[in-house]
Amino acid sequence: MQVVETTAGMRKLRDGLAEPVGLVPTMGYLHEGHLSLVKQARSENPSVVASIFVNPTQFGPKEDFESYPRDTERDLAMLESAGTDVVFMPSARDMYPEPYHTWVEVDTITQRLEGASRPTHFRGVTTVCTKLFNIIKPDKAYFGQKDAQQAIVINRMVTDLNMNLKVVTCPTLREDDGLAMSSRNTYLNPEERKAAAILYQSLCLAQQLWAEGEKDAERIRQEIRTLIQKQPLANIDYISIADNETLEELDEIRLPALVSLAVKIGKPRLLDNIVLE
Ligand code: PAF
Repeated sequence: MQVVETTAGMRKLRDGLAEPVGLVPTMGYLHEGHLSLVKQARSENPSVVASIFVNPTQFGPKEDFESYPRDTERDLAMLESAGTDVVFMPSARDMYPEPYHTWVEVDTITQRLEGASRPTHFRGVTTVCTKLFNIIKPDKAYFGQKDAQQAIVINRMVTDLNMNLKVVTCPTLREDDGLAMSSRNTYLNPEERKAAAILYQSLCLAQQLWAEGEKDAERIRQEIRTLIQKQPLANIDYISIADNETLEELDEIRLPALVSLAVKIGKPRLLDNIVLE
């Protein structure tokens, strides 16, 4: 496995890679969920590049950029054992040379759900992904369904800007109690970690109500709300049942529908979702 720390070095190395090239963009502090993306990329491409870059532009001023967990040594060992060929680990200065003025923005769908609480988040994500795509020129890029809105937004950007790659969305990996794997789970203390199972339980409730014939989205949102409110450590940011492409909230369930949640458990804010289809 080769580790490249500069954009110029990555460009040079890219020219010698066997095609197609699969890219797994990450912010590090990897878990099994990331490795499942690498494994899928490995099974579909002769060359697999993973990036590790804690992208400052997707964090809001009051968010956890400084404290975001980092462990490069462990990440590199995990990527190597999952069969990664190249790890791209640029510095912030190399990715955003000063003065920096250029942004990629997807409108409308970025203002909903996560975008409502984090107004500059997706601009940072779409800009850094565009930069990674331009530097690495992947044929396919792999993202987790765990961040469903991110995958939808990147797909939209790739289509709208005629980018020459395919976005692959891979299933969410879960712990034994259903908690979606996330680097931010590390912020949970033992009591919060136990309480966090409420997110997946409430998504299962939505799935069950729909399977029993409930079509009224608001009734399902309300049932989810009632269940989560029984957990004293939980504080709901949003409960959404939306069209899986436009992210418009639904009155009546129309398939495929994205059921997604953002819930604070103590301080940490957790996301999860399922698609009804
Ligand atoms: O999902 C993430 O880890 C990040 O948002 C991404 C896609 C690597 C962009 O920084």
